[in-house]
Amino acid sequence: MAEHIKKEEIELQRSFIYKIKEINARYTNINGHPMKANTETYGCQQNENDTERIRGMLKEAGFDFCDDANDADVVVYNTCAVRENAEQKVFGRLGILKHIKESRPDMLIGICGCMVQQEHITEQIKKVHNHVDLIFGTHALYKFPELLYNAMVKNNKKSIVDITDSDGAIAEEIPILRDYSQKAWVSVMYGCNNFCSYCIVPYVRGRERSRDSKDIIAEIENLVANGCTEISLLGQNVNSYGKDLEENINFAKLLRMVNDIKGVERIRFMTSHPKDLSDELIDAMAECEKVCKQLHLPVQAGSNKVLSDMNRKYTKEDYLEKIKKVKEKIPNISLSTDIIVGFPTETNEDFLETIDVLKKVEYDNIFSFIYSRREGTPAAKLDFVLSEEEIHNNFNKLLEVQNEISKRKNDEYVGRIEKVLVDGVSKNNENTLSGRLESSKVVNFVGSEDLVGKYVDVRITEAHTWSLNGEIVK
Ligand code: SAH
Ligand code: SF4
Ligand code: F3S
Repeated sequence: MAEHIKKEEIELQRSFIYKIKEINARYTNINGHPMKANTETYGCQQNENDTERIRGMLKEAGFDFCDDANDADVVVYNTCAVRENAEQKVFGRLGILKHIKESRPDMLIGICGCMVQQEHITEQIKKVHNHVDLIFGTHALYKFPELLYNAMVKNNKKSIVDITDSDGAIAEEIPILRDYSQKAWVSVMYGCNNFCSYCIVPYVRGRERSRDSKDIIAEIENLVANGCTEISLLGQNVNSYGKDLEENINFAKLLRMVNDIKGVERIRFMTSHPKDLSDELIDAMAECEKVCKQLHLPVQAGSNKVLSDMNRKYTKEDYLEKIKKVKEKIPNISLSTDIIVGFPTETNEDFLETIDVLKKVEYDNIFSFIYSRREGTPAAKLDFVLSEEEIHNNFNKLLEVQNEISKRKNDEYVGRIEKVLVDGVSKNNENTLSGRLESSKVVNFVGSEDLVGKYVDVRITEAHTWSLNGEIVK
């Protein structure tokens, strides 16, 4: 069974929240407003969910929030290590923060998350960016109040660092401030045991550990009681859910339990590893009426040699067989995937196998990445077969093939009437609302802001490659 952080430790952290709150009260007396915090998130939904916890703790400690680091008393960046460009962005931002801090030395800068869970990065930050006050890894998230308090009261320039990865125990009952009220991420498990040869996640997130189902259900019931209707269950490999628990449970069973919760309207989940996608789960998806008919199933590559070098533990044929089963049992399912182009051992011929998978599966959309070398992973030792230019050409070819498929898939929606959960006002046009279909496709349409958070019927009028346009059906 997954270990839990002890109640006393959670209580201790709570006491630090109160201490910060007192500092904040004194600050408010002098300045007329509480201290302001600015947070930024890089990486995946797991990180988004972690940032919601950080904001929850900050809010309980009396902070207001601001969008601009220039106005902030505390800045926290929650970082990602999955590709080099994610790390470069953070280093770039740290450079900018250095200038801001020069004019406002009292400002506190915290860096947390996957990137700093790597020792060589933390050393680099300490050496080059000594204006960072606080560095804490993914395992120390629950200790944020204590670390922040210590940073607030310290009277030297040394940064406070906690990147231990010894425990990996699950912390329940950390405060949370969610980004949306109508939809929510709920982590069902943490970590990953798969060790795909290119991937840093198992090193920075630790081994797989599942939350107790009663804690997950209680969290969802509480969300529903507060008006939330769409639940996205999160884990690096949700199909492994429950393997480490004493209770007789797996992800398919959990899905059915969530489906039975009154008030939940939509259930999504990510991510599934193809090797673990069981018939039982496909059946549960098909039979649970609230589970969205949508599946994200990362294939990564089409060549069996590359898949083996990636340590993915399935072949192209296994994968296509699973997709066939899914399509048979769940007609009209919307499919998406992750693809890596330019894995070191990938040849041009191997790459064509990936294109073949795209053509055979016909995904609604894909998330494609150029391979990025991650220090400490087995693939980092491999030599490249293709040149950078060849890899970029393949990447562009991949997008070209998929864009045509995505557009064609979206065209099929024109004329249909679809139930849409309204997310908010469109990023591109303030008179337009934006929402998601069951398939997770984005649709833009004219409507009033009071519809945000509600479900409306929308007739799809126009298809683009990445989104749809529509009109509300009266
Ligand atoms: N656990 C999830 C997501 C992991 S990270 C899964 O297995 O699907 C999200 C995606 O980033 C991966 O699916 C992979 O496509 C990509 N990725 C991971 N490591 C990478 C690397 N070193 N270079 C490029 N892309 C990478
Ligand atoms: Fe990384 Fe593979 Fe785990 Fe996904 S399943 S997080 S790609 S090691
Ligand atoms: Fe990045 Fe960490 Fe997620 S490395 S993809 S933020 S688990």
